[in-house]
Amino acid sequence: MIDLSRRLMLPEVMDDPALDPAVYRRCLADLARVNRVTMTHRATLAWLDRALGVWPGAAHFTLLDLASGHGDKLRAIAALAARRGWRATLVGVDLNPRATAAAIAATPPEAPIRYVTADALRYSPETPPDFIVSSQFTHHLADAEVVELLGRVAAMARRGWLIADLHRHAVPYYGFRWLARLAGWHEIVRRDGTASIARGFTRRDWQRYLDAAGVRAEIGWTLPFRHLVGSAPP
Ligand SMILES: C[S@@+](CC[C@H](N)C(=O)[O-])C[C@H]1O[C@@H](n2cnc3c(N)ncnc32)[C@H](O)[C@@H]1O
Repeated sequence: MIDLSRRLMLPEVMDDPALDPAVYRRCLADLARVNRVTMTHRATLAWLDRALGVWPGAAHFTLLDLASGHGDKLRAIAALAARRGWRATLVGVDLNPRATAAAIAATPPEAPIRYVTADALRYSPETPPDFIVSSQFTHHLADAEVVELLGRVAAMARRGWLIADLHRHAVPYYGFRWLARLAGWHEIVRRDGTASIARGFTRRDWQRYLDAAGVRAEIGWTLPFRHLVGSAPP
């Protein structure tokens, strides 16, 4: 039995720049499938829908997705905005230029989404966005970087922010392996997914980070084993 009482910074193969580009693209597309099967973005979409529903200025909103990966969450947000009749300006930031390229390729050119290759810890848009969201990113960071990110995001988002990431727990740690096998996802996705859960967080971790950053926020939890950390709902 693995000891998940503290974060285990196991390496993730997808972060290796030497990974074959075709394998990388396949794994990133698989990650988008993982998100779909596990309904990862549902909580973020519901949060945004609520926030925009009570905001009179919502006719046009700007949103930044930190570590946007394959861009699937931004495409889902663009679809939500289109359904509600809101005009959206969406930006996805990812450190890996291969993620940027794959996200651009998967996004219809008419979608209101722009992708930028940059470090989420350094990226400073000219105009602060209304909303900042991020999912499955913070487990890539060391504890001190999570604290730094929380401070930056809380200061930068004008209307609200939400960070979703993995709960470090034995159920998803062992369960994900089986799900990935059954679904036929690439072996790297299976291994990295498991490593990501070991690098993930407990509620106590999040409270400690928020205290260290001097940021007041809510910590929620949703299936499948995700913490949702963000500004209070409006
Ligand atoms: C597990 S993927 C998650 C992608 C997407 N958010 C999702 O939910 O599927 C993690 C992403 O974080 C990106 N990443 C890692 N460190 C980063 C950093 N410092 N700044 C921006 N992106 C980063 C990686 O390139 C990768 O695309």
